[in-house]
Amino acid sequence: MRALGEVYRVLSVSDPGAPEPQPGQFAMIAAAARWGGGEDERPYLPRAFSIARRAGEESQFLLEDVGPGTRRLCELKAGDELWALGPLGVGFTAPSQGRRAILVGGGVGIAPLAILQDALGVDTTTVLLGFRDAPRTAGAELLSGAHLASDDGSAGHHGPVTDLLAEELGRDAHAVVYACGPSGMLEAVRALCATRTVPAQLALEAGMACGYGACFGCAVPRRGGGYLRVCVDGPVIDAAELEHVDEHAGAVA
Ligand code: FES
Repeated sequence: MRALGEVYRVLSVSDPGAPEPQPGQFAMIAAAARWGGGEDERPYLPRAFSIARRAGEESQFLLEDVGPGTRRLCELKAGDELWALGPLGVGFTAPSQGRRAILVGGGVGIAPLAILQDALGVDTTTVLLGFRDAPRTAGAELLSGAHLASDDGSAGHHGPVTDLLAEELGRDAHAVVYACGPSGMLEAVRALCATRTVPAQLALEAGMACGYGACFGCAVPRRGGGYLRVCVDGPVIDAAELEHVDEHAGAVA
């Protein structure tokens, strides 16, 4: 475990022999010990986390303490055991020939964009990241060459990261947008890309109980009717499949 500024932690999990993850895939994780409220209480469900990076035999995950499950994971020490199931779900698809990749992330949702940048290459990606405040902007170190935006003006552009995206698309709209972050940000990305007819792949997040298609706890409405299960139809969903991004389908801001 290493700190990334004051807010984020990078959890490295030794997982020799695990299948190589596709960028955008996720794993269900639980601490092996003290996962739940005590002997008389029901254990927590595992939590779904995007795989942020694969380094040798280690998988890395980006954590923010936002509740009892993530707090327990943030407490883990070297040598502690985890329960992990993954890689799961459908990840990102590489851009078609000639289109540049624009990676747009918000808050702890930047995680799957790191492994995507590893796969596509630093020189061929434009990275735009938005954070709430100064303590969180340290998260940008997870990727290379990021242009920053912040809600409080403490780093980079003062305003939403979609302002930066609008500028980029104004310069050259021959791009594919890859986004992950809070639902409001994802919806703004979806709407902007729809207006400019730019393809976009959105990594959604939803409350997940099973992670493999059995419980329907992660369903989001599909454009034209029906539902998509974020865990098996995603988490990366083509923006054209969505009328809008459901407010429960984003990373914690
Ligand atoms: Fe159970 Fe998606 S988390 S169906």
